[in-house]
Amino acid sequence: MSKKILLINGPNLQLLGVREPEIYGVATLPEIVADLRKEAGLLGLELEDFQSNSEGALVDKIGGSLSAGIDGIIINPAAYTHTSVALRDALAAVALPAVEVHLSNVSGREDFRHRSYTAEKCIGVISGFGALSYKLALRALAEYLDSRGK
Ligand code: DQA
Repeated sequence: MSKKILLINGPNLQLLGVREPEIYGVATLPEIVADLRKEAGLLGLELEDFQSNSEGALVDKIGGSLSAGIDGIIINPAAYTHTSVALRDALAAVALPAVEVHLSNVSGREDFRHRSYTAEKCIGVISGFGALSYKLALRALAEYLDSRGK
């Protein structure tokens, strides 16, 4: 049975492609997801995706991931990265391997973006490679899950 990866995107990421393209690039979220789904197929993984602007909906989705049979999470919490104890607690509660993703290099931006409440509950963070960040995260998570299965 193939492993199931849940891709979660937080607030304003539905606007990718038009949103500050000089920072976030020109690819739209559906384009990024379609590309990632292809990559997942090549890696023998199943990909479910979810985007919401609502913190509660994101918390609910993470909370439901165990009963949904999810094996690992890729999450771009967007602005909630820097504010959300609730998302951090949700990741800690399900304790699934998660990789945090950012399109932009948050370490090179405003000070308030340097703090991530969610990263400490993830196995790692990939930041700054634009849409490629998602693919790198998927490859890292696939290798992590593989090595854990051995
Ligand atoms: C982001 C970085 C966050 O600081 C910002 O609030 C976002 C997008 C990124 O992917 O670069 O919405 O998560």
